[in-house]
Amino acid sequence: MAIVCKSAAEIERMRHSGRIVRQVLDHVRTLVAPGVTTMDLERAAEKKITEFGAKPAFKGYYDYPCVLCTSVNEEIVHGIPSEKRALKDGDIVSIDCGVVLDGYYGDAAITVPVSESVKPELRKLLTVTEESLYRGIDQALIGNSVGDVGAAVQEHVEAAGFSVVREFVGHGIGTRLHEEPQIPNFGARGHGAKLREGMVLAIEPMVNYGKPETRVLGDKWTAVTVDGSFSAHFEHCVAVTKDGPVILTK
Ligand code: MF3
Ligand code: CO
Repeated sequence: MAIVCKSAAEIERMRHSGRIVRQVLDHVRTLVAPGVTTMDLERAAEKKITEFGAKPAFKGYYDYPCVLCTSVNEEIVHGIPSEKRALKDGDIVSIDCGVVLDGYYGDAAITVPVSESVKPELRKLLTVTEESLYRGIDQALIGNSVGDVGAAVQEHVEAAGFSVVREFVGHGIGTRLHEEPQIPNFGARGHGAKLREGMVLAIEPMVNYGKPETRVLGDKWTAVTVDGSFSAHFEHCVAVTKDGPVILTK
């Protein structure tokens, strides 16, 4: 499948999906607290998505069972919400949500501290990961390459002493959740596919406090760090336009 560029009208529709994702995440993050289960977050998200007249993008995608991915602490991505997983003081939780509205997808993620007692070095992990997302977004310019995005993310993360995950990457997005091209969070400037007007990219740095290696748990979904160190994830959908990068999941 080739890379699909979107018209201004299509980008406008993706802005609607993106806004819904953002509103769901903004709501769900207010519920995060010690004692709340990741299934509580799932139920709240599903209700909001329905209220907005959208459909969840993840549920049923390759048999994924939920509308959110909730990845706690050393879980990197694709954690499955569970009644048994109550959030605790000092935890961090990544919340990833995708929706589809009128055939167009939106996808975004945030990582939030569960309580005030989250250690300063973990707060720094969250800050650096979110900053690296914006460094990547700044490179989403016509004529740049996919490698410019990845290199900008990687340089920012590694300068802070953290590491970027290699096995999971960002992606094009549009009338499908995952389109070409893949958007790694590492790379070399000037390398990879050229960015063109109308491309929409889901840029999503996954950053480990320790080493970059990952493995997938027996549930076949939850990706965790091999060294047990905590991991953060932030994601936006971004359109490449003549006016520069436009964040659709604001
Ligand atoms: N935001 C993630 C991604 O782009 C979430 C996908 S979870 C899945 O891959 F269940 F839908 F696969
Ligand atoms: Co994504």
